[in-house]
Parts: sequence; C-alpha cells; structure tokens
Amino acid sequence: MELEFNKGFIEVICGSMYAGKTEELLRRIRRIQYAKKDCIVFKPKIDNRYSATEVVSHNNTRITSINVSNSCDIRNYIYNEVKELPYAIAIDEVQFFDSGVISLCEELADNGVRVICAGLDLDFRGEPFGVMPELLARCEKVTKLNAICQKCGGIATRTQRLINGSPAYYEDDVILVGAKEQYEARCRHCHEVPRRKSNG
Ligand code: TMP
Ligand code: MG
Repeated sequence: MELEFNKGFIEVICGSMYAGKTEELLRRIRRIQYAKKDCIVFKPKIDNRYSATEVVSHNNTRITSINVSNSCDIRNYIYNEVKELPYAIAIDEVQFFDSGVISLCEELADNGVRVICAGLDLDFRGEPFGVMPELLARCEKVTKLNAICQKCGGIATRTQRLINGSPAYYEDDVILVGAKEQYEARCRHCHEVPRRKSNG
C-alpha cells in the first residue's frame, strides 16, 4: 500500500530485540529531518538503558527525545508545549505505554499527523506485549523486523530472557529493562519458556 505522506496515518515497526527496530525508527526520523519537517520523538522514562535524553539503538545511533511517564505526558506535550501539530511524531518502546496511547495515536493520525511507533510485538514469554496487538490492528502500515537466532542462526521472532544464564520462568514479571546481559534473540524453535502451560 502506498501511503500519502501529507495525510495522517500510523505506522508500526515491530519485532524481537536486536532486530533493528530503533535503527529503522531513527532512519525514518532522519528522513523527515532532512526534509525540514517537524518530528517530535518520545520514549518512556522507564527505558534508561543507554541515555535519559535520547533514543539510542543497540548499535549506538541516537536522536534527542522527550522522555515521558505515560500517554498523558505525550498528549500534554503535543497540545500544550508546541504551537501547532507537528508533521510527525515518533514513539520508541511503545509496548511500555498505557492503552491511552492508542486513542492518542488515532486522534493525531485523524488530524493529519504521521505517527511512527516502534516496539516489541512479543514479550519474553512469547505473548503479545501490552498495547501492541491493538496498535498493530489499527495502524495503516506494519514493518515486522526479524533478528538472527543467537542459538541456531535461524530467523529470530522471539526474545529469550535469561536470568543468570538460564531461561526465565513464564510467571516472571513482564517488565525488566535490559539488554545483552538478560536478553537474546531466538527463533520459535530455540525460544524456551519453562513452566509455560500451553505451547501456544
Ligand atoms: P529493544 O526492543 O529496544 O531492544 O528494547 C526492549 C526493552 O524491553 C528492553 O529494555 C528489555 C525490555 N523487555 C521487557 O521489559 N520485557 C520483555 O519481556 C522483553 C522481551 C523485553
Ligand atoms: Mg530499541
């Protein structure tokens, strides 16, 4: 589907960790900046891994961001801190946001804003992550990126959480901010979730 860039729509970049989601988000933001259009970049405060004031990919490309606690902060910023609606907004780690982010993205897209979101489609258990299923259903364009399975070299669509080198249990907390020490990209066959009831 060819999207008309001067009309509002929602695009979502999803996939496992180490698939290049943030890099792809940054690429799209840079293209907008080259065209001298406004793009306001948000990320959740909870993700303080590489920087508190920037979106940073695992390979260390970075762009300045506004760090927010929830979707209300994004709404307040857009409606109170800037004079007019921007050409685009970008949200990284969108899986961490509350459900208000969905109506906000829809409202902005309805009002002509290009909305670009990046996030994990699945959590470490292999279950759909938070707001992602609904956002993926409601958006105009999905880019699903894969990583390389760190065990077998296959197509990684899952993220393996490791606690002291062993697979995390199904009932562990979903949110655990981290990178290489705790997480690996895995394919569906090498992804291990001890104590998962069904194999779904
Ligand atoms: P990334 O997609 O940019 O690599 O970052 C994903 C972040 O999400 C990272 O801080 C780890 C965190 N995370 C969770 O909190 N729970 C999970 O189940 C998974 C897979 C990742
Ligand atoms: Mg990322």
